[in-house]
Amino acid sequence: MSLIPAQAVAIIAKLQAIAPELEDGDDVMIRNEALQLSRQLTTSLSRPEDVAAELIFSPFIPIAAKVCVEMNLFELLIKRGTAVTSDELAEQSGAEELLISIYTPPLIPTWGVVKLTNFQARLLRALASVGLVADVGNRTWQATPVTQALAVEGVAAGLRMIEEMVMGAAIKAPKYLRETGYRCPTNPNDGFMQYAFQTKLSSFELFHSIPWVMRDFNTFMGNSMGARQIWLDWYPMQERLIDGSDPANDPALLVDIGGGWGHDIMAFNNKYPNKGKLILQDLPGVIKDCQSLPSGVEGLAYDFFTEQPVLEGIFITMFCMIVPETEASAYVSMLDLTT
Ligand SMILES: C[S@@+](CC[C@H](N)C(=O)[O-])C[C@H]1O[C@@H](n2cnc3c(N)ncnc32)[C@H](O)[C@@H]1O
Repeated sequence: MSLIPAQAVAIIAKLQAIAPELEDGDDVMIRNEALQLSRQLTTSLSRPEDVAAELIFSPFIPIAAKVCVEMNLFELLIKRGTAVTSDELAEQSGAEELLISIYTPPLIPTWGVVKLTNFQARLLRALASVGLVADVGNRTWQATPVTQALAVEGVAAGLRMIEEMVMGAAIKAPKYLRETGYRCPTNPNDGFMQYAFQTKLSSFELFHSIPWVMRDFNTFMGNSMGARQIWLDWYPMQERLIDGSDPANDPALLVDIGGGWGHDIMAFNNKYPNKGKLILQDLPGVIKDCQSLPSGVEGLAYDFFTEQPVLEGIFITMFCMIVPETEASAYVSMLDLTT
C-alpha cells in the first residue's frame, strides 16, 4: 500500500499538467494555481497532528520578525549581501548573540511540566524555518528574497504596527467574546481594540493618539501589500470614469474617501494625469500629515460619518479597504452621505 495519500498523488498530477505553462512565462493565473495546489499538497502530505501543532506555534513567527525589524537585522543582512555570523549581527545591532541565533532546545521538562525557554534565543532560527532568512550553517545567516521584501519600509512598518496594535487587540478577542457571550462587537468605542488597550477611543482615534502608530499605519497602507492587485490595473477606468467626464465643469473626477496619505489617488494621477480634479479625503490628522500632494490632487479633511462636502457632480467616490467596526446601519448611513 502506498504511503502517499491518493489526494496528494492527484495534486502532483495536476501540478505536472500545468508545469509546461509555468515554464512558458510569468502567467499570474497559472502561478496562483500552482501555489494553491502546492499548499494543498503540503496539507495532504502532512500529518494532521503536525498541521495542528504548527498552527499553535505559528504566531511566534511574525513576533520574531517584528523583533528583527526593530533590531534592523534584515537590513544588516541585506547590506552585507553575503553570509553573516550571529556574532557580527550581535556586534552591529548591539544585541546579545544568544538572542539572535544560538540553538537551545526550547522545551525543557521540569518535574513533569514543560517550560518554554529561550524562545528569544531562536529569532533567526525560527525565521529560517519558514524561509524568511537562510540558515547557511555554523550560526551564519543570509538574506533571501523574502528578507528583502520584509525590509521594505512599507512592510516593516506593517509588521511593527499590526503586531503591536492589531494583534495586540486580536489576542484579547477570545476573552472579550467569552465575556460578551459571543456577540459581534458593533460599538466602535467598545470592541477588541478598546478592550485590549483599555480605552474608549475608536481604533483610529487611538492610532492617531500615538504618532509612531499613525506614521507606520499610513506607510504600510502606501505599500502595495503583496498580492493586492491595484484597482487601476483591472478597473475599466477609461470607459467608466474618464470618457464622458467634463474636467472643466465637474467639481471632481474622483474622490478617494479614507484614502490615507493618497497612495491610490496619486497612482491614478500618475497613470491618468490631467483628467480632472482629484480629491483625497481622510480624517484631519491624516490629511495634516500628507506630504506635498501633486498639483491636481487636493487634500480635504473629512469624516465619512458626516455630510459629504463635495458630493454634487462627482463622477466616482471610492472606498478602498475601509474596515467596518461599527454596526451595519452606520455604514448604510455613511454610504448615503457620501455617494
Ligand atoms: C484601512 S485604511 C485604508 C486606506 C486606503 N483607502 C487603502 O486602501 O490603502 C482606512 C482609512 O480610513 C480612514 N478613516 C477611518 N475612519 C474614518 C472616518 N470616520 N472618516 C474618514 N476617514 C476615516 C483612516 O484614517 C484610514 O486612512
